[in-house]
Amino acid sequence: MTATTQSEQDRVIIFDTTLRDGEQCPGATMTFEEKLNVARMLDDMGVDVIEAGYPFASDGDFEAVHEIAKRSKNSVICGLSRAAHKDIDRCAEAIKPAERGRIHTFLSTSPVHMKYKLQMEAAQVYEMVISSVTRARNHTDDVEWSAEDATRTEFDFLCRCIEAAIKAGASTINLPDTVGYAVPEEYRELFRKVRETVPNADKARFSVHCHNDLGMAVANSMAGVAGGARQIECTINGIGERAGNAALEEVVMAMRVRQDKLPYWNRIESTMLTHASKTVSAATSFPVQYNKAIVGRNAFAHESGIHQDGMIKNAQTYEIMTPETVGVKGTSLVMGKHSGRAGLIHKLEELGYKLSRNQIEDVFVRFKALADRKKDVYDEDIEALVDEQLLHGQD
Ligand code: KIV
Ligand code: ZN
Repeated sequence: MTATTQSEQDRVIIFDTTLRDGEQCPGATMTFEEKLNVARMLDDMGVDVIEAGYPFASDGDFEAVHEIAKRSKNSVICGLSRAAHKDIDRCAEAIKPAERGRIHTFLSTSPVHMKYKLQMEAAQVYEMVISSVTRARNHTDDVEWSAEDATRTEFDFLCRCIEAAIKAGASTINLPDTVGYAVPEEYRELFRKVRETVPNADKARFSVHCHNDLGMAVANSMAGVAGGARQIECTINGIGERAGNAALEEVVMAMRVRQDKLPYWNRIESTMLTHASKTVSAATSFPVQYNKAIVGRNAFAHESGIHQDGMIKNAQTYEIMTPETVGVKGTSLVMGKHSGRAGLIHKLEELGYKLSRNQIEDVFVRFKALADRKKDVYDEDIEALVDEQLLHGQD
């Protein structure tokens, strides 16, 4: 999908927060070098905005954001900051070397967060929205403001804060589903109603940021886009706080594969998705689940006889995208106890064997017996079965 064939108003900005929200989850800490490596890869694959870290959190985070800002060639480099002026100033310092830098400042707006976390009244929060965005705007004209816990915020108050943030100079407004509580229709309606209600809404780009606590982060992200948002905040492999964030590879491929229902486009080079997944998995030591959509090792693997038979006849029987689109060399027909004759014949041809019908039948019987004893049947096992057949079996 290229920019030339798509209208600018259907373009979705991909904002990757692997290095910030992703790294924030327990056990996903990356070293300075690993962060630079991940950032280079995101920059190469066409990510529009890289949230490189939270500079106020530590000197290490500051240094990483600063270095990424120096090196990045294509992406906007963004740093996160709370609403405090010292946070914002530190963030501005970190992103300074970037050709295009963004300050992302956030403040909680939901009753539960204001009462227990911030211990502030709504009126104080409202004033702080204005002062934080104004402070950030003194450093850069690319300011994003997030209403943390937006999906549990009282609607009128949310709209007043958004209006004030835009007036103070925020050009991106993010409405995070911080605790993964929303359902798709509700989230779509939130964007639609906010954009309809806030008088200056057309002066900002709206953004989705979905957590996966109920497993709906990707569905919610796409629903938010249907409601008018044009930025998706996501992470590679969906890593992030608790159950994680919306997975970048999933939102990107959903828009590619279901253009008919999701008529939006993005600039990501999808053939780099598998490489990106492996890079982040290696940097964080977080394994990718086998059945993970798009990048899991089983995403293009088929073991059952019925599926293998279908795949041999036409790949579209059981695959909705080609493995090459996401950087995988090809489909794999995995041999196991569920495999049938068609799969075995295909595997024998792939290994270069030309056997008679009787020989194939004999190998098939031996293969089924082995597959009942052994979980995975590798190419070497098939080769051993053929050797056995040739030595002791019938012609
Ligand atoms: O989930 C969230 O609300 C966040 C904000 C800081 C944007 O990560
Ligand atoms: Zn988050």
